[in-house]
Amino acid sequence: MLLQARVPNLVASSAVTQTLARSSVGAGLQKRHASDVTVRNQNAQPVVRLGLTGRSSVSGHVATVFGATGFLGRYLVNRLGKKGTKVVVPYRCHEDEKRHLKLMGDLGQIVFMDYDVRNYDQIVDSVKHSDIVYNFIGRNYPTKNFSFQGVHVDAARNIARACQEAGVPRLVHLSALGAQEGSPSQFLHTKALGEAAVRQMYPEATIVRPGTLIGFESALLNRIGTFRKALFTTNHNQQIMRPVDVADVALALDVMMSEEYTLGQTYELYGAKPYTYQDILNVCSNLFREKVTTINVPKPLIKAVTTAMQYWIYPMLSPDEVERMFIDQVPSQDPHVKTFADLGIEPRNFELTVLPYIRHYRKPAYHEVPLEPKGTRTFGKHHTY
Ligand SMILES: NC(=O)c1ccc[n+]([C@@H]2O[C@H](COP(=O)([O-])OP(=O)(O)OC[C@H]3O[C@@H](n4cnc5c(N)ncnc54)[C@H](OP(=O)(O)O)[C@@H]3O)[C@@H](O)[C@H]2O)c1
Repeated sequence: MLLQARVPNLVASSAVTQTLARSSVGAGLQKRHASDVTVRNQNAQPVVRLGLTGRSSVSGHVATVFGATGFLGRYLVNRLGKKGTKVVVPYRCHEDEKRHLKLMGDLGQIVFMDYDVRNYDQIVDSVKHSDIVYNFIGRNYPTKNFSFQGVHVDAARNIARACQEAGVPRLVHLSALGAQEGSPSQFLHTKALGEAAVRQMYPEATIVRPGTLIGFESALLNRIGTFRKALFTTNHNQQIMRPVDVADVALALDVMMSEEYTLGQTYELYGAKPYTYQDILNVCSNLFREKVTTINVPKPLIKAVTTAMQYWIYPMLSPDEVERMFIDQVPSQDPHVKTFADLGIEPRNFELTVLPYIRHYRKPAYHEVPLEPKGTRTFGKHHTY
């Protein structure tokens, strides 16, 4: 009775009181507070927190993260593990490629499940104990085993269907900024189809469209750093991009776990300022203290070369990525689409946060040199920032 009086909207079920009683025993002498219990609106299940916050506490949430072995996945799993959330990680890779995730939670908090995304029963097994599911599965290029359709549409639909049938109260699906059915890029076209498939199966899903992710593992920055002596580019580096720090996106995804107002919404998460690809090269040149040399290749030629190479060797640049280099990353004009501001997050400024991610490409003599004030270093009139 006391608990019901202190927690507004708390479902007066015996399940809540029983769960609290059980958790109090598990917590030893820890004092219980009404704020330790939240109830998911969708399935009225209580989520009970145990312990102080931190990796050795228990948030009571169970999250499944598909695609956790990728770039963004590790940042979210770390955030969830840090708060004591149990994370189910379905994986298909070699044992060694996912072991870094094991250390992100306390003993038993990161649970790995071997699966194949085409196997519906394995997807159901991965989601049925969770109160939130994140789908980060995506690929920049088709492979021998998976087309864009298979990864971005069929897999997304199966995960959404499994969540609906298993009664999972929250689903967060990752799409991409610029996802449009009419896009000449197959990546962006299938991302749009994937969004529609997810909405059809699970109308309350939260859809997230990030700009290009920036961080230590960023393909964009690592390609620039690795090939800074001779970087093949196209479109005269005029594509407009909205780079966004991966840590900001992980924070937003973490906020979505507890904030029910994000249900059924679409979020476009992009950085504070637009940059052309040339602007990004200039920022990198200044920070490397070495000019990045680019060689502009006409579109038909670079597409022919990347098409010939894509199934032959690991594609450093796929033909679809070439197509995307001619498509500006422009936020949607739809007034219903939300942004970082709606989550109360101020995205970081690319120029001010990028140095740690690319410092290792500097010559050793400059390694420790800090970020310089804007415009103090130039490489000709087009290379200031
Ligand atoms: N990175 C960006 O700049 C960016 C920009 C816009 C949107 N996005 C989207 O955001 C999401 C996360 O991005 P990310 O950079 O973290 O991607 P990522 O590093 O490429 O990771 C993709 C994840 O998807 C998994 N995956 C791919 N194909 C799969 C398949 N056929 N079966 C099972 N798993 C598969 C990968 O598993 P394996 O490790 O086993 O391959 C990996 O865990 C993706 O949906 C991506 O399209 C990313």
